[in-house]
Amino acid sequence: MNESTTKSFMNIAHRGASGHYPENTMLAFRKALEKGFNWIECDVRLTADQQVVVIHDRLVDRTTNATGEVSSFTLTEIKELDAGSWFAEEWAGEQIPTLEELLVLMEKHHARLVIEIKDGINFPEIIEKVLTIVDAAGMKEAVSISSFNWEVLEQVRKLDPEISLSALVLFDPKAEEQYVLRDSGKTRVYNSVDDLLQDCLDRQVDIVCPPADETTSEMVDRLHQHDLLVRVWGLKRLNDKEIEDLLRMGIDGATADYPDQLEEKLREMKIRL
Ligand code: G3P
Ligand code: CA
Repeated sequence: MNESTTKSFMNIAHRGASGHYPENTMLAFRKALEKGFNWIECDVRLTADQQVVVIHDRLVDRTTNATGEVSSFTLTEIKELDAGSWFAEEWAGEQIPTLEELLVLMEKHHARLVIEIKDGINFPEIIEKVLTIVDAAGMKEAVSISSFNWEVLEQVRKLDPEISLSALVLFDPKAEEQYVLRDSGKTRVYNSVDDLLQDCLDRQVDIVCPPADETTSEMVDRLHQHDLLVRVWGLKRLNDKEIEDLLRMGIDGATADYPDQLEEKLREMKIRL
């Protein structure tokens, strides 16, 4: 990551401004960007005809007017779905975007994008496709690739030694089970900061993303000692105490469904905007 990224707090509009607008639509992305949020997070999957589209779930059921697996629709078919009215009738007709469409919008706003690769285990070809699309858009410097699966992150690093990597991690100091199924892959549940740190260093990760409710000062300090950035995931509607505690720990960023609420708190606490 270049320096300009690390100097300001990464207030990342999660799936766009998804608290206010239908997630992962151009509407949600545009609204976040128009409000001045210059970091966006999105989720990507492959269609039946191998196109990279922006949608969170494996199924289209929750966020569109249809049912079935994303991977069973061609791009033409998926573009016919209504991805807005499940959220509010006034947004009927919003489409599922392609990654290319989103990158054009990001470039126009000189903004940065976290691309979370979903199900790179069952659909490993998505990894190279995402990198090719980002490269063709000339947006490598403005992108960080994220995943909960080490296999996916390792493959990204192998294909591109420079692109920013954001490792989404699970952490529970009391965890007995070491692995859970997440995005169709095995994801380690860390119970030790040192194990997490070592795995991130070994994989040349740039940004470590622990769950907001398991992040501690000790963890943030230890990761910072090794020049790793810490941005948390899992912030929903803002809980004042939770976010104040996290900001005092010195986290570098967070994905937020309500980036406007997070910004208010950042201003109040005079954190690097
Ligand atoms: O910020 C990361 C977060 O997006 C990971 O979880 O389920 O919202 O994709 P999920
Ligand atoms: Ca995500």
